[in-house]
Amino acid sequence: MPETVNQVSGPSAVLRVAVLASGEGSNLQAIIDSVHGRFGVELVCVLSDKPHARALERARSAGIEAACFTVAEFAEADQGESTPRLRRDLAMVELLRANDVDLVVLAGYMQLLSAEFISHFFGRIINVHPSLLPKYPGLDAIGQALHANESQTGVTVHFVDEGIDSGEVIAQEPIGIAPGESIDSLTARVHEIEHRLLPEVIAQIAASRGDD
Ligand code: GRF
Repeated sequence: MPETVNQVSGPSAVLRVAVLASGEGSNLQAIIDSVHGRFGVELVCVLSDKPHARALERARSAGIEAACFTVAEFAEADQGESTPRLRRDLAMVELLRANDVDLVVLAGYMQLLSAEFISHFFGRIINVHPSLLPKYPGLDAIGQALHANESQTGVTVHFVDEGIDSGEVIAQEPIGIAPGESIDSLTARVHEIEHRLLPEVIAQIAASRGDD
């Protein structure tokens, strides 16, 4: 009897991916364009905290389920220990589990995930960050590198833990900063790297499934 893909690759032949994004979604677009539906990768849903995020439109245009979870929707009073953020995160976990998501990709998701969310997907959440971590975690990483007169910065893809951009590094790529370079120019060059590196890491994760 011929071996099936499932026997070779584990529980599901395809890596089912969800993207969380708050804004423009150019990294989401790179994932849609270069790995969605190929290399054993299926982008199954896109979640945002911002109803007008361009990322949601990009998902819908590509025929991918898109959902928004604003913290305000979960702000009912009198919920004991639970907070709106926790309730929002648990609602997202429910949707991700209903979609059998294997990998959660943060691509410009501007909210801190609760410990409960992280524990549901620990080791299966990755983030793209525009610096050579551990340098310049947090906001405005490109501006921080520029204003510190660094001669290089770069892009990091890393696992997500409870800290800010502090999880284990998966891949990094440096980029030189030209003397007098503008923030716009550097940002564009950093994004170019992100748009290649993040999809590559996702494809590598899909390829390595079933190896262990
Ligand atoms: C990217 O620079 C990413 O590294 C950072 O947020 C930005 C998101 O850009 N975490 P986009 O929404 O993918 O265009």
